[in-house]
Amino acid sequence: MKALILSGGKGTRLRPLTHTMAKQLVPVAGKPILGYVLDHISEAGIKNVGVIISPETGDEVRGYLGSGNRWGVRIKYILQEEPLGLAHAVKTARGFLKNDDFVMYLGDNLLREGVKNAVRRFRRDRPDALIYLKEVENPKQFGVAALNKDGSIKKLIEKPKRPPSNLALVGVYIFSPRIHDAIDRIRPSKRGELEITDAIQELINMGYKVVSEILSGWWLDTGKKDDLLHANTIVLDEYIRTSVNGKVDPASKITGRVEIEKGATVIGSRIRGPVKICRGAVVENSFIGPYTSIGEDVKIKDSVIEHSVILSGTCIEGIERLEDSLIGRNAKVVKDHDQHKALRLMIGDDTTVEV
Ligand code: DAU
Repeated sequence: MKALILSGGKGTRLRPLTHTMAKQLVPVAGKPILGYVLDHISEAGIKNVGVIISPETGDEVRGYLGSGNRWGVRIKYILQEEPLGLAHAVKTARGFLKNDDFVMYLGDNLLREGVKNAVRRFRRDRPDALIYLKEVENPKQFGVAALNKDGSIKKLIEKPKRPPSNLALVGVYIFSPRIHDAIDRIRPSKRGELEITDAIQELINMGYKVVSEILSGWWLDTGKKDDLLHANTIVLDEYIRTSVNGKVDPASKITGRVEIEKGATVIGSRIRGPVKICRGAVVENSFIGPYTSIGEDVKIKDSVIEHSVILSGTCIEGIERLEDSLIGRNAKVVKDHDQHKALRLMIGDDTTVEV
């Protein structure tokens, strides 16, 4: 069994962050989403991993994953020149996949439970596709499944205008090599992409065995700001255990589950978990409230921050209250003491500022 991780695409919904970084590398609770994906692949005992990359963000993805050694896997990078769809990505990876079964994992999907049990079931039952389904409130934004009374799959439709159910296709699939025959038979969708959902439907049309599993744990498609904040909240809730390896001075007070990495410094501040503070960060004379992730080398001074994700290298100073915010890398949010009423902004493309 191999694994194919999709880490190409454009990431338009997470702009402006994705103007300069791959969406699969946006950190959740201080760790890039792709890190969680690799954890799951490695846990399932899969050693041979193909990673689809785009010309724009491929180098950055390579920079983070490297050879795969850290996870005990071997990574082969596969360049997809244009994001022509998930099934197109599989086509591009044909040389790597050969005639092997494979797990396909979308690089921006975050799941509580890994793929270990699904791989076991696939090996036991030998279907041609195993898909995960999960109830969602907004099925129009996903691939959607209609089921028969006995639970078998009746139909799969990509982003339907009138969803037949609220069961979305999760971005993790396991395939036999028959998926390649199905992909050869489908045409691009209205949005001009070769859809994996259409290919799985084609497998059903061809009379092959497609089975589904309802996902019990949480699943997050980290495509948008609110999704990302939500993902951060859930992951902090689940994974953060108190561990203080950085420097905390006696004037600071830490309550709840707080992870402070080695090389981080907290001076005269209150931190109320769950909170993650990455290495190199300095928090001074501030309050950091629940569900906040502070990236590497971030400087926070004289500020109050809650329920926010602050990416690496950013500086926040003199801000009375910052909430529900997602702030990119190397940004500056500072109080100008001379200009009480005026806002002076230099913000990137596709940015939202609520004041
Ligand atoms: O998240 C689950 C959903 O993922 C499913 O419910 C849908 O059926 C499935 O089509 C997919 O929908 P999205 O519109 O969310 O897919 P997106 O374009 O965001 O791409 C998912 C990942 O695959 C993302 O990490 C980028 C990567 N990708 C995407 C395309 C179109 C590629 O590597 N190559 C591509 O050509």
